[in-house]
Amino acid sequence: MSDKQTFVELFRDAAPYIHAHHDKRFVIQMGGEIIASNNFQHLIHDLALLHSLGIKLVLVFGVRPQIDALLKEKNITPQYCEALRVTDEASITSVKQAVGEAKIQIEALLSMGVQNSTMPRTDITVASGNYVTGRPYGVVNGIDFKLTGRVRSVEHDTINKRLDSNDIVLVTPLGYSSTGEIFNLSSIEVAAQVAIKIKADKLIMLSSVRELKDEADNIIRQLTCEQAKTLLEPGHYNVDETPATALAQGIKACEFGVERIHYVNNEVDGALLQELFTRDGIGTLLSSMPFDMVRQANANDIGGICELISPLEQEGILIKRTRETIEADIQDYKVLVRDGTVIACAALHNYADEHIMEIACMAVHPDYQNQSMGDKLYKYMEMLAVEKGAKELIALTTQTSHWFIEKGFAEIATESLPVKKKELYDYQRNSKVMLKQLN
Ligand SMILES: CC(C)(COP(=O)(O)OP(=O)(O)OC[C@H]1O[C@@H](n2cnc3c(N)ncnc32)[C@H](O)[C@@H]1OP(=O)(O)O)[C@@H](O)C(=O)NCCC(=O)NCCS
Repeated sequence: MSDKQTFVELFRDAAPYIHAHHDKRFVIQMGGEIIASNNFQHLIHDLALLHSLGIKLVLVFGVRPQIDALLKEKNITPQYCEALRVTDEASITSVKQAVGEAKIQIEALLSMGVQNSTMPRTDITVASGNYVTGRPYGVVNGIDFKLTGRVRSVEHDTINKRLDSNDIVLVTPLGYSSTGEIFNLSSIEVAAQVAIKIKADKLIMLSSVRELKDEADNIIRQLTCEQAKTLLEPGHYNVDETPATALAQGIKACEFGVERIHYVNNEVDGALLQELFTRDGIGTLLSSMPFDMVRQANANDIGGICELISPLEQEGILIKRTRETIEADIQDYKVLVRDGTVIACAALHNYADEHIMEIACMAVHPDYQNQSMGDKLYKYMEMLAVEKGAKELIALTTQTSHWFIEKGFAEIATESLPVKKKELYDYQRNSKVMLKQLN
């Protein structure tokens, strides 16, 4: 494939996301290791690019390694309890210094705008301030966390006003109190609370370790809140402490209305862009609804179904169906949709007089084959057939008989087809008739 073709395809694939993200509010949390990484300048450039595409950004940063480095210079040993810093008077000076330096660094990089841009008005204004009020974390299990704090409240109206004025809002991990104290906060908690309070469309947590992995060390691509909670149960899954905190705060944000939480490993250059502008993303997506939803098809899905099955019809794998036939039978169709694209479909036709149902027009988009989607959809259709009282399930196939055999089907004679189906059987096509007894 030529570079030009690749570009055209990539641009076409990204276009719906550019459109969908416009004017949306994203809160992006960056761990301190991100600021210290070689990729940081690229990340800031990508953030400037998102801003130029009309995405409203709130950036929340952490500075844990920077604070540790400053304490080391002063020969102070950092104190942690359960992954949380105990911030005493000596350490708060280093906290303030690290936060100040990081803030200036981010503002300076953002001031460069979208580098080499020929676009007018790419100047970026950054707004930061006392948006977060803190309160003491307190004494927990006998340990006094001193100036380590929790989020007490967020000035969400002010943040939203800044966003509406086209500023990028920069939020530090410091919380101020009405009594003049300064608290050292977890940037993960700050980001989650800000996302909840400003009613953000997305919360994105970036780090070098933030992707979530299953027991076999594979990246978990999608999670519902319920699944995420089971990961946090003791002994269920060995999440180390930072991902566990990020996961717990992500669940909270999700339960309080932030629809999508993304965990992205920023070690990969351009990871944020891949996560936001490609269908499959690169990290882990936590959402309150299952991402892949098998659902009843409706008239709006007909175009997507036709697009999915037309190449299979041309290859002779599926029998040809007109748009009108699909429209007439649309109640029989179920679809699996990802970000608005039909990536799998199947129909269940009922021969009620004979207690037989037919599974038909079963297709999975080539990009998603061999990932158990076909299996998932098939099981769903079989469950529906059982629910509707079918005793037998049939399928007609020219090239997929073994797939059905593995699901418990066996080949039967054409004569055994339900009467109505037999009348329509295409003897030239000579499909195999497969049958499964349903218990
Ligand atoms: C058949 C189809 C629906 C399976 O969906 P899928 O999501 O890729 O399947 P799953 O991930 O659940 O299962 C994958 C397994 O099925 C096997 N498989 C896929 N197509 C097969 C076929 N035509 N014959 C036999 N086995 C097949 C794969 O080799 C894989 O086996 P493995 O796990 O042993 O390696 C999909 O391949 C498809 O859309 N094919 C084109 C349309 C079609 O044939 N539809 C059926 C019309 S009757």
